[in-house]
Amino acid sequence: MKGVILAGGLGSRLSPCTLVTNKHLLPVYDRPMIYYPLMALVNAGIRDILIVTGGHFAGDFLKLLGNGKEVGLEHLNYSYQEGEGGIADALSLAEYFAGGEPICVVLGDNIIEGNIVGAVKDFADQGGGAKILLKQVEDAERFGVPELSDGKVVRIIEKPKDPPSNFAVTGIYFYDSQVFDMIRGLSPSARGELEITDVNNMYIEKNQLTYSELEGWWTDAGTFNSLLRASNLVAKTGANKLSL
Ligand code: DAU
Repeated sequence: MKGVILAGGLGSRLSPCTLVTNKHLLPVYDRPMIYYPLMALVNAGIRDILIVTGGHFAGDFLKLLGNGKEVGLEHLNYSYQEGEGGIADALSLAEYFAGGEPICVVLGDNIIEGNIVGAVKDFADQGGGAKILLKQVEDAERFGVPELSDGKVVRIIEKPKDPPSNFAVTGIYFYDSQVFDMIRGLSPSARGELEITDVNNMYIEKNQLTYSELEGWWTDAGTFNSLLRASNLVAKTGANKLSL
């Protein structure tokens, strides 16, 4: 399985910090944010990794990470997203890299306590389709939220005013190669983006989406509150530990 980290976008919720650097290069406790999704993939045994980024500071990822030697890699792949067309738009840039293989996608501002090696294995055994990881949260309206019935996700609503459950869809997704055709079929949402939630709903319609609950803490780091929370969690327990 190959890994894709999506680290484009404007990071406007972290302005003015993001006027002078990319959001994913801001510190979370003792290292730049991008290290955490990268280590999440490496610790799960994924070695072939693409980072999609964009904006004015894309070159700084290369300066920081190079070929990934510091995280135990021999090589890193990079792609550049023109504009901020949404998560699914950024993912479309991974088609050539994926080359028909299954992929594990991690959003660049998602940080986890545990290790996703179990989910990687489960998706490999699943033999196709898609898989998402859910986490119970207190502020579900900030995220994609699943409606669950009989142990299945029946639909996902992006940032619902009235959430159908108290689960968030975390920014860790597994897809087979159909995902790129699905993205080609998307239209921009009301906020002008190609939404990953629309992709996941397409897999649900085909009855090809499974889910598991993520163990350990999970947080995004895309707002000042969640960035502080992420730093405090990492300082307290560390992130991406090999076992919980
Ligand atoms: O964190 C999980 C949530 O992430 C999910 O529950 C939501 O369903 C999903 O839509 C997403 O919500 P956000 O509103 O938090 O996404 P955001 O726009 O902050 O983007 C998250 C990451 O995706 C960002 O750190 C980099 C990447 N991204 C985003 C955009 C808009 C790109 O690479 N390119 C983009 O154009």
